Amino acid sequence: MIKIAPSILAADFANLERDIARVASADYLHVDVMDGLFVPNISVGIPVVQSIRKVTRLPLDVHLMIDRPVRYVERFCDAGADIVTVHVEADTEENTHKALDLIRAKGKRAGVVLKPRTPAEAALPFLDKCGMVLVMTVEPGFGGQAFMEDMMPKLRQLRAWVDQRGLDCELEVDGGVDPVTRHTVIANGATVLVAGSAVYKAEDIPGRIQELRG
Ligand code: DX5
Ligand code: ZN
Repeated sequence: MIKIAPSILAADFANLERDIARVASADYLHVDVMDGLFVPNISVGIPVVQSIRKVTRLPLDVHLMIDRPVRYVERFCDAGADIVTVHVEADTEENTHKALDLIRAKGKRAGVVLKPRTPAEAALPFLDKCGMVLVMTVEPGFGGQAFMEDMMPKLRQLRAWVDQRGLDCELEVDGGVDPVTRHTVIANGATVLVAGSAVYKAEDIPGRIQELRG
């Protein structure tokens, strides 16, 4: 089954509770955390995750676009994250292992994220620890960008490794996913679709979530 994770980056932050309620039929709630260092934008942090936790039953899928996430992963878990993903580009291999271990020790699902220019191989050292691998289909930092179809070979490679090894690991895509590009990502092995603009710009949000899920 395909899961849909609306990104609150496209929500109205002055009406966040209302906009979270509007996506209640989704599978996960995707929370984009940006620090202005790892990506050229700043979004939300730990107190916001804490507050969101109180107003939704959806599992919180927290995408950390921050430098050296090992410093903060436990605090995001304690704030209520259910899934925490860290970028492989954000720290050394050793610290990325440490971050994944800390997330798992909190009883949460851990994952790694790959920027567009990062090859599939960069996820390999971590695959056994990952309950999620996120393939960026735009440069991280902003919503509303065009989908990068050239990420599909990377997604297929990851799908092949996950299947060959029989891993319990979801494959998620993030960036430019809409009712057209959904077909491409699903055909190439994605099981979790993040969508910001495509969900929040829709007239009928529950209808759009259903359309994306298929
Ligand atoms: C980009 C974020 C995405 C973003 C996706 O850095 O990681 O989650 O919200 O937005 P859309 O779906 O509009 O491309
Ligand atoms: Zn994201």
